[in-house]
Amino acid sequence: MYVKQLEVKNFRNISHINIDPCEGINIIYGQNAQGKTNLLEGMWLFTGCRSFRASKDAELINFNSTKANLYMDFNAYDRDQSASLEIGEGRKFILNGIKQKSASGIMGEFLAVVFSPEHLSLVKDGPYERRRFLDIAISQLKPKYGVTLSQYNKAIAQRNVLLKDVQFHSELYDTLDIWEERIAFFASEIIRQRIGYINKLSQFTDEIYSGLSSEREKLIIEYSQQTVVYGDDKQELYENMKNQLYQSRRNDITTGFTSVGPHRDDLSIKIDSLPARTYGSQGQQRSAALALKLGEAAVIRSFSGQQPVAFLDDVMSELDVSRQNYILNHIKDWQVFITCCDPSAVQNLKYGKSFEIENGRLK
Ligand SMILES: Nc1ncnc2c1ncn2[C@@H]1O[C@H](COP(=O)(O)OP(=O)(O)OP(=O)(O)O)[C@@H](O)[C@H]1O
Ligand SMILES: [Mg+2]
Repeated sequence: MYVKQLEVKNFRNISHINIDPCEGINIIYGQNAQGKTNLLEGMWLFTGCRSFRASKDAELINFNSTKANLYMDFNAYDRDQSASLEIGEGRKFILNGIKQKSASGIMGEFLAVVFSPEHLSLVKDGPYERRRFLDIAISQLKPKYGVTLSQYNKAIAQRNVLLKDVQFHSELYDTLDIWEERIAFFASEIIRQRIGYINKLSQFTDEIYSGLSSEREKLIIEYSQQTVVYGDDKQELYENMKNQLYQSRRNDITTGFTSVGPHRDDLSIKIDSLPARTYGSQGQQRSAALALKLGEAAVIRSFSGQQPVAFLDDVMSELDVSRQNYILNHIKDWQVFITCCDPSAVQNLKYGKSFEIENGRLK
């Protein structure tokens, strides 16, 4: 999958840009606040997902305009395609000449992963960010997982309400059974899917991280359960989960909160057997987050046969030259867009194209 051409009009600080990237590495460089991230953001929107940084679409439209227009020619599923997006009152997508009713019409056509500085929170912050990463990544591959997850969350919310009510109405105690069975049913599926996904992902992150660190360090990612629920298959997980919920009742009635289950679990990230969150250096944390994102793209390829485009926003800072070189010269057969301020990174680029941006224009 690759972008062949992109035209952007009145999008953020870009009044008009037209670029024709290469199929390999593309560097977008320039000083701060010139529009580099904006350009990545514009391409990203063709995935049909929300922006990776704007909360409102109105922020995307140039201050002097009432609408933004983006046009993209890309190659996907072995054919040339074209898409356009108008952001004004809502978003209007046209794919290969056909108007789409909503963004979901374009989803899955143009595949991409993005790494932006905010993704460092994957390594640095609490478990919520990592669960979110896993859940979004799995839902993209298996939409049914997203449904299971929301059913699970609803069942947890119901049990939590009941835990509070039981304190005053002991006759409700037995109804906990119903919710715990439901929770255990969905939880067993969620745990199974997450473990399966992490096993697959780790095959790729292992290799990517090892390359980034010139084989000097080892990244290990594992599913980490706050309360361990054993099980080789779904049935065993279900039984054990139900058991754990039953055993936690007394404690949970006191707190009014369900203390066991996948909503408390985490993705453990270790570098040379030390937790990256507490012990990793800045460069190691960045490398780990990048390995997760590039690994995510590799899993997508193994499922769909399509290699997503990678948008790497400001990935070079804090990385030493050997790590930068790995990114520039060893990520092969992918289209990658990298933004950076320092044009010296470009000098190390063996194959690829570079674009300089100044004040929302190509220089
Ligand atoms: N809707 C908008 N209309 C006009 N300008 C905007 C709009 N939204 C953002 N900008 C401006 O775009 C400028 C460039 O933003 P961008 O984040 O792309 O910079 P950058 O080149 O990635 O810089 P850095 O190297 O600091 O990350 C910002 O100064 C911002 O004020
Ligand atoms: Mg930027």
